[in-house]
Amino acid sequence: MGADLDALAHSILNENDLGGYTIPTKGLYPYQWNWDSVFVAIGFATFDLNRAWQEIENLFEGQWDDGMVPHILFRKNDPSYFPGPGVWGTKAEPFPTSGHSQPPVAATAVRDLFELSSDPGNVDRTKAIFPKLMAWHRWWADYRDPKGHGTVAIVHPWESGRDNLPDWDEPLSKVDTSGVGEYTRKDTSHVDPDMRPLKDDYDRYMSILQAGNSVGWEARKTVEVTPFLVADPGITMILLRANRDLLALADKLGFASDKPEIEGWIAKLEKGLETLWNPDVQAFVTRNLKTDVMGSGVSSASFLAAYAGISDPKVIDPLNAHFDRIATKAEYMLPSYDPEHAGFEHKRYWRGPVWAVVNYMAARGMREAGDILRSEKIRKDTVRLVEKSGFAEYFSPVDGSGAGGSSFSWTAAVWLAWATPSLSANKAA
Ligand code: DGY
Repeated sequence: MGADLDALAHSILNENDLGGYTIPTKGLYPYQWNWDSVFVAIGFATFDLNRAWQEIENLFEGQWDDGMVPHILFRKNDPSYFPGPGVWGTKAEPFPTSGHSQPPVAATAVRDLFELSSDPGNVDRTKAIFPKLMAWHRWWADYRDPKGHGTVAIVHPWESGRDNLPDWDEPLSKVDTSGVGEYTRKDTSHVDPDMRPLKDDYDRYMSILQAGNSVGWEARKTVEVTPFLVADPGITMILLRANRDLLALADKLGFASDKPEIEGWIAKLEKGLETLWNPDVQAFVTRNLKTDVMGSGVSSASFLAAYAGISDPKVIDPLNAHFDRIATKAEYMLPSYDPEHAGFEHKRYWRGPVWAVVNYMAARGMREAGDILRSEKIRKDTVRLVEKSGFAEYFSPVDGSGAGGSSFSWTAAVWLAWATPSLSANKAA
């Protein structure tokens, strides 16, 4: 079974490879997506390190002059996706892109690639990408913390990668949609609409996009005009982790003069994360920077605390209690939102479904922190999901059915890099 699935995962990556870059899945997502590509790279790295590097290097071809790495790279026009390059209207070179970013998982993956081989070519490729990672992380620090809280603010739910999380409902409710006009979605013609965000969400997504377009997505002006500005614990923790990996790389590659800047970012984020702890919920939640309203539920991002290098028992103990409670409610871990919260929907995108890449990050952090039991629970549940429903985009935590797109690149990639029972690290478990 494991070997068959390994072969299938392999072929999914190869089939979604459009020549140096990989689409998430055919039909639904026909372009290069930022964090999808990075996870794909760690999948490729299990059998083709050169191809893994290519994926990351091609992603950084889309980097903007200000350092931002966009969430979608439109290398060619494909009318099967909305909103495409014409709607975004950015002036990016050498090809059009979207106007905001996505969770910065790249530095962590680059460190993984670096550590796979001491070959001089591998070291050179790491050295070449390092300044680009620095520029991107500096962009987050310079532009996405407008109030100086030490947290990462997103200007669009798409930037978080967790598009229709229940925590965005309150900030989205403040977004005026009266000027949005008519448009035709394409996503709901590819997959069941019950698995996708609602029309009401899409109207608000479009309204925010129009605000960003009105200032050409210039970073500082975007933060000023966006009707949606929310501190996201997901990106904050992912960036904190990525900064630690960047610091390790600076050390190993001899970029000593960059270290104080990275150390400053880490210290700031560690402190800032405290402002996202909701004492009523006992978890890390979102904070609407316009109304100061905090999210009211436990999302899977909370379980990235160990991945972010947080070890304080005052945080980890209550999170573990949530984990253990949720594990009695969900057949498969980790649901993207608390199954006991009113906002939970088991098949609707980020309102409940399990996502293999979040499972991978959460389990990795827990394992590194020595919590083998919870880490293995997540991995084994991921194995059960893939065995039951294949390499789906996401899965119901209630019945394990696959949802969204199928033959999905990042699910295949983290299968190969982490979940598969055929990996020697997993054989003993
Ligand atoms: C989509 O089209 O649903 C994507 O998540 C946006 O990035």
